[in-house]
Amino acid sequence: MTARIYLDYAATTPLDERVLEAMFPYLRDHWGNPSSLYGEAQEARRGLEGARRSMAEILGAKPQELVFTSGGSESDNLALRGAAYAARRQGRGDHVITTAIEHHAVLHAAERLEEEGFRVTYLGVDGEGFIDLQDLEHAVTDATALVSVMHVNNEVGTIEPIEEAARVVKAKHPRAVFHTDAVQAAGMLDINVDRLGIDMLSLGAHKFYGPKGVGALYVRQRTPIQWQQLGGGQEKNRRAGTENVAGIVGMAKALELAYDELEARNAHARDLRGRLLGEWAEVRQTCPEQCLLLLRVHRRRGDPDRARPRRRRCLQRQRLHERLARAVARPHGAGRAG
Ligand SMILES: Cc1ncc(COP(=O)(O)O)c(C=O)c1O
Repeated sequence: MTARIYLDYAATTPLDERVLEAMFPYLRDHWGNPSSLYGEAQEARRGLEGARRSMAEILGAKPQELVFTSGGSESDNLALRGAAYAARRQGRGDHVITTAIEHHAVLHAAERLEEEGFRVTYLGVDGEGFIDLQDLEHAVTDATALVSVMHVNNEVGTIEPIEEAARVVKAKHPRAVFHTDAVQAAGMLDINVDRLGIDMLSLGAHKFYGPKGVGALYVRQRTPIQWQQLGGGQEKNRRAGTENVAGIVGMAKALELAYDELEARNAHARDLRGRLLGEWAEVRQTCPEQCLLLLRVHRRRGDPDRARPRRRRCLQRQRLHERLARAVARPHGAGRAG
């Protein structure tokens, strides 16, 4: 029997052992509230601020430009709602531009803004998922408060031309705020905020071998934003709630490891992709009906009238999955398994 192999790293990644080790002292020993004034708080605060400095360095940002959140979804919501409401309050416009292929954390936040009276333009994409920079330029007006374009798409992996998009927007309307959802890019691509030319950037730790339930929003200094979570004065009054210190320390460690090992990790991913596509091409040539069956199974999932044929097809699908799994499980450089 083939061992089960997990490939959906766009959904989430396992926690790196080294990240767990970095987090452990903050779960067991340094449990103080980082906002307290007395001794127990000191180590927790040191961990928190060390993590902020280390992440800021990787992003090419100032530590105070990072706001810790509960993950990518909160960062996206804060970016969209925060920038839109700040613009409305300052009379700078009520127009938001985003794309039709954003994660729901952006799309649903944009839809809510529409319900609340903002105007939202959803840019379409081509067959490969790319936005059109001319469409973007046409969409920007003096009333555009915010543009949000994701860096890497979570379904098909398209890498959007963020640098160029930010340049196009700023050239037409320098006061429009540019946000990018970099949840799928962090840990895999260079996300230096000055090179990208963006004002806000979202990331979430569990996509790069960090813990779940923790993320960050980069907000360039002087970007107008109306903070959304009210309560205590944490994160310099920008996001209320006692920080998840162990999670944040883990996120910083995970990001540091990702950029230390960037080349090796990306080479490994390219190797796996090559093997999968190679195996897939061979299956298509030698046994095209397996591919067709696989597609039909996916299309007809849940059709009660097809119970029997579906069972037969599932057996075929199982064989195909096993074959693809064997292709990625082979040690690097090893010959084809029979
Ligand atoms: C592109 C993108 N944005 C946002 C999110 C939401 O992140 P989180 O799960 O950390 O809330 C995800 C998660 O799948 C994502 O892929």
